[in-house]
Amino acid sequence: MKLSEEMTTALNDQIALEMTASQFYLSAAGWCEISGYDGGAAYFYAQADEEREHMLKIIKFMNNIGVRAITPAVSQPNVNPTSLEDVISMSLANEQAVTVAINDILSLAYKLSEYSVIEILEWFVAEQVHEESKFEAILQKFETIGRDGLAVAEIDRILATSPTED
Ligand SMILES: [Fe+2]
Ligand SMILES: [Fe+2]
Repeated sequence: MKLSEEMTTALNDQIALEMTASQFYLSAAGWCEISGYDGGAAYFYAQADEEREHMLKIIKFMNNIGVRAITPAVSQPNVNPTSLEDVISMSLANEQAVTVAINDILSLAYKLSEYSVIEILEWFVAEQVHEESKFEAILQKFETIGRDGLAVAEIDRILATSPTED
């Protein structure tokens, strides 16, 4: 067996979590788009794609070592923030939850001495540092630029040209 049952379940759960994150950001993009935040919409559509890439990364890793990954069900989120700042806060909370999940799988890998998964999990650890930092940096802009209409429009404009990845 290439992976223990426990690790196989943990990775399949993470695949589902990345898919859920992708759907969350897709819903966030829709909220931005109908609320007139074109920059936010572009940003979250790209973020939804990025989370799908994360899902694929784990699926391909598992399938490549001969452990068939479970194709996750599609969730139906309904992201209804009260403001652009709120949707960024919700995104940060989402990333923090994903970080906990990744850290838990890494702990499990060490507990089970299952070293074949360390490399991919460490990639995800680094990715989560980046994910949390980027949403923290956007939240910071509400402190520095402001929260009135012009300030929020400026932050939306910044989002339009901000890459979701490094
Ligand atoms: Fe992710
Ligand atoms: Fe993420």
